[in-house]
Amino acid sequence: MKPGARLMKHFLQFRDLRAEEYAYLFARTAAIKQRFKNYEKYTPLTDRTLAMIFEKASTRTRVSFEAGMYQMGGSVVHLTTGDSQLGRAEPVEDSARVISRMVDLVMIRTFEQTKIERFAAHSRVPVINGLTNEYHPCQILADIFTFIEHRGSIEGRTVAWVGDGNNMANTWVQAADILGFTLHVSTPRGYGIDAAVAGAHRPDCVKTFSDPLEACRGAHLVTTDVWTSMGFEAENEARLEAFAQWCVDARLMAAAQPDALFMHCLPAHRGQEVAAEVIDGPQSVVWDEAENRLHVQKALMEYLVLGRIG
Ligand code: CP
Ligand code: NVA
Repeated sequence: MKPGARLMKHFLQFRDLRAEEYAYLFARTAAIKQRFKNYEKYTPLTDRTLAMIFEKASTRTRVSFEAGMYQMGGSVVHLTTGDSQLGRAEPVEDSARVISRMVDLVMIRTFEQTKIERFAAHSRVPVINGLTNEYHPCQILADIFTFIEHRGSIEGRTVAWVGDGNNMANTWVQAADILGFTLHVSTPRGYGIDAAVAGAHRPDCVKTFSDPLEACRGAHLVTTDVWTSMGFEAENEARLEAFAQWCVDARLMAAAQPDALFMHCLPAHRGQEVAAEVIDGPQSVVWDEAENRLHVQKALMEYLVLGRIG
């Protein structure tokens, strides 16, 4: 490594960064967002290129990364399994070697976490997880930034997770572990969080409840997600039955703190995991949460490509 050169970092799961790096990123996000709101041009990634590889559908992730990269002066290449050799069984290692010689940053949305890890292991440039079956770290980055904007530090607070022990839930566990808050989790039997996948070091950062109402009791933030994640569609019918009681409605919100926030990564299904009265109600911050994907990812891309600014 050249003297003064930085160690390349990937963002494959939430635990890839430390608490003090998150503090930096949240401060940086606030500054970048403020400039954007003031229509101030900020183009630190001029002449840089982001490759975005999507093996699953997306609205927010696609728009936020693509718009964010253009706003910072860079450009994007959009690839899907269907329109690239990735869908014709070119080894992921070979794809990584080739793509990473041509761009400065790669974002991947795919199925197994091992696939993104194999890509990163053969990449010359930083790789960002835009969602895998196991984790969704960019979303939790946005969620925690949104909490901080509305309520201040998340340290010492309680977040209630109601629903599937999925990629979002695993990532909340890692965030609780690193950032020092408590996660209350309630999932239907058989759909719990796999502790080995979530991988928390601080065992008391997660408390599990069979009753979703008990999980919400005293929470500062209540959050949920779809009952059936992408890639699990074959289980849809069984899940509709198993999750029927895991709907965040006014009764559950009433058990939380009076000023508790409601979040959902979206897309949402009103009448399934969340009642319309909650997602469209006064405690919901889902639109801020979605917008903040743009701002946190701009800070993240800047950090991974250029390191700390200032
Ligand atoms: N929340 C989220 O990642 O949304 P998309 O699937 O639309 O990207
Ligand atoms: N858990 C959901 C999140 C979608 C953004 C999924 O993986 O489909």
